[in-house]
Amino acid sequence: MQDINNEGQTNHFPFIQGENLELCAPNSKHAELYAKWKNDPIVRRYARNVIPRTLDEQKKRFESGGEKFKEHISFEIWHKKDKKPIGRIGLGWIDWVNGWANAYIWIGEKDYWGKNVATEATKLLIDYAFNELNLNKLHGGVAIENIGSWSVAEKLGFVLEGIEREEMYVDGKYLDNKTFCLLKEDWLKRKNNKN
Ligand SMILES: CC(C)(COP(=O)(O)OP(=O)(O)OC[C@H]1O[C@@H](n2cnc3c(N)ncnc32)[C@H](O)[C@@H]1OP(=O)(O)O)[C@@H](O)C(=O)NCCC(=O)NCCS
Repeated sequence: MQDINNEGQTNHFPFIQGENLELCAPNSKHAELYAKWKNDPIVRRYARNVIPRTLDEQKKRFESGGEKFKEHISFEIWHKKDKKPIGRIGLGWIDWVNGWANAYIWIGEKDYWGKNVATEATKLLIDYAFNELNLNKLHGGVAIENIGSWSVAEKLGFVLEGIEREEMYVDGKYLDNKTFCLLKEDWLKRKNNKN
């Protein structure tokens, strides 16, 4: 799916530049695509989306907002070479007083799984959270069977904080949930060591 503007260029609104990806402002013209990803049985499996999301509900999400300090900030993940949106990433439950937020990600286009997309996009999100928003800590919760997701967390230096036993009900089974966190000082140390 692509939007073409009058100059024949693809319409999107890059906010953060990465090597292969951009994190863009969510685009109401892509509501259909976002709804498709939210309802996809494989994509939503471990993402706790157990109620169908209608297209109307998805569109309504663009109506709210306007407040400066939001509880939720989300991006569209844009694939630069293929010139298309492939997923969503963001920060939820932002606690501005204590300086933490919950990080989440969906690569809605399954053809892009296993190609380092989540790793690159999450790195961009982490830099944004710590260096622009001045948050101090990111959380992430991942079903134990969602190996792709917790591999990304471990690769980026998230530390296991605990295991919540039988926290999620997926496909008729209770699954344990791994809870991870990343502190700003650990992220900066890690980045400095790599330079
Ligand atoms: C989970 C998800 C974000 C991963 O995205 P991705 O772009 O495929 O992730 P990456 O390619 O950056 O990294 C995945 C890593 O997990 C590893 N991995 C994935 N499945 C694996 C498996 N079954 N066994 C071992 N390793 C596995 C990959 O090898 C890769 O590690 P590597 O780069 O060291 O090889 C993506 O599958 C997704 O959006 N799923 C649906 C929504 C979802 O579950 N979101 C997370 C909710 S917590």
